[in-house]
Amino acid sequence: MSTRWPAIFIFGFSLLLTSPLVSAQQTVVDVEGHSWWQHAVFYELYPRSFADSNNDGIGDLNGITSKLDYLKNLGVDAIWITPCFPSPQVDFGYDISDYENIDPMYGTLQDFDRLVAEGRKRGIRILLDFVVNHTSDQHKWFLDSKSSRTSAHRDWYIWRDGKGVSQPPNNWASSFGLSAWKRDPATGQYYYHYFYPEQPDLNWRNPAVKQAMFDVTRFWYKRGVAGFRLDAVDSLFEDPKLTDNPVVAGTDSFGRPNMDEKYNQKLPEVHDVLRALRKVADEHGAVLIGETYTSTIDELKQYYGEHSSELQMPMDMMFATVDKLSVPEFRKQIAAIDSAGGWPVLLIGNHDMARSYNRYGDGVHNDAIAKLMAALYLTLRGTPILYYGEETSMENNDPKSKEEVLDPISKLGWPLEKGRDGERTPMQWSADVNAGFSKAKPWLPVPASARTHNVESELKDPGSVLSFYKRLLLLRHSEKSLLDGEYVPLNESNPSVLSYLRRYKDEAVLVVLNMAGSAQKIDLDLFPQGLAAAKMTTLLTDMAGVLQDPSKGIALEPFAVYIARLTK
Ligand code: GLC
Ligand code: CA
Repeated sequence: MSTRWPAIFIFGFSLLLTSPLVSAQQTVVDVEGHSWWQHAVFYELYPRSFADSNNDGIGDLNGITSKLDYLKNLGVDAIWITPCFPSPQVDFGYDISDYENIDPMYGTLQDFDRLVAEGRKRGIRILLDFVVNHTSDQHKWFLDSKSSRTSAHRDWYIWRDGKGVSQPPNNWASSFGLSAWKRDPATGQYYYHYFYPEQPDLNWRNPAVKQAMFDVTRFWYKRGVAGFRLDAVDSLFEDPKLTDNPVVAGTDSFGRPNMDEKYNQKLPEVHDVLRALRKVADEHGAVLIGETYTSTIDELKQYYGEHSSELQMPMDMMFATVDKLSVPEFRKQIAAIDSAGGWPVLLIGNHDMARSYNRYGDGVHNDAIAKLMAALYLTLRGTPILYYGEETSMENNDPKSKEEVLDPISKLGWPLEKGRDGERTPMQWSADVNAGFSKAKPWLPVPASARTHNVESELKDPGSVLSFYKRLLLLRHSEKSLLDGEYVPLNESNPSVLSYLRRYKDEAVLVVLNMAGSAQKIDLDLFPQGLAAAKMTTLLTDMAGVLQDPSKGIALEPFAVYIARLTK
């Protein structure tokens, strides 16, 4: 049993050993046998943009440590830090040149240890981002690999002869534009890179690669990390015969013909690696989150693995990208993930997609809609991952011209492809210069809305999005129904109002969300749930008026949230 974290309460060891869902190393936190991460609120944090302690315009680890009290106060239990390892920063850290160190721009290993220790004092666990698919082209493994056809690390990457003069080995395309192959003049062969040319793919068919990468996880487990978010797992393996991908209808955001990437994405071998990584994680009581871009729930199910032998937390990107306030669409996605048999992992934004504030906002009621979206994903069954700044309703701040662009995707694809700079801007701490993030000019510009949408102002305003998040997260941690209750959809034919219960034994939490821009009235029939005579106590609403008698129907203002406790 892990002794690194105090258990809230620990149940019989026999339960631990018999439950197929938790490893013997996982701290169990309730009678249902849930592990800590199933009751935790996760927070994704982009280190370049969170807090800058040394005023060089770039966030750093000491900056993060200085904000742990803020995170604690918000209701966060675990943070996932996107890559902070040494890197040439071509892909802003997703091109790692040393997996076992901290990039000097973010601090030192000692700063990291202090972050872990300070987190532990506050009950906040630290997770790192593990880029498994590729390294930087400046990593010593790749430098050796490209040095000659017979070098010790040659087979650590995927090298092939071209088809003819200036012809890459096949038609595979890089997800970041152009071909996925780059010719290296020194040895005359091509290497494969699913992302930028500066991110050569590792050859996971080579056992030495596997060993070295597994050792990386052990290095960080020993330093106290609680787990990893695994980057781009879909891309780990490629067809060794290099079969061309079929071209299909339509074009992508670079204007290239679409392809069915059946020969270089989601190959079955991915699951062998995930099972093996999970075994190492289990030895350390750690949790694995997956960046799993699946298009069906069956595909997502595979990432949990049989008897939960792969990722504990594969992200449901189908829920994350609904992209419109559509009640039927959300109902469908929730039902799908809820019945998938694993523990749902829900998010509405990350460092690769435009901020939820813009994707769901209508331009007029954006704050109300931000509360509505929060009430949705923070009351469903599963573990939520907040994206930094979502709680202060940060908006996207896209580059205004090609000259301003930093993300290479957009340098290549402008103006069709705006890139990801917009969702990675500095955390808005106050109305001060540079949003209180840094005294120096930040690496990305702060939008004008930082004057009103920032931590300092929103903490003072009980009606702010941040105050709403805090109240929601408090409820999430204290209402048994919200932690463990089953999801029971209500009024399933209503196209404008999404209503459901989180039912736990004799009690339930009722959630009613008006996704329409017009007032709505709903009547709830709780008779089938045996709750017709239940007492209804309002827990949280953003509506001005107090409901007189909710059992007589609920009148909802546009985009309103109504959450109540039902007790028999
Ligand atoms: C993942 C990351 C993204 C990165 C890519 C390549 O998709 O989330 O930010 O650019 O992998 O590492
Ligand atoms: Ca700094």
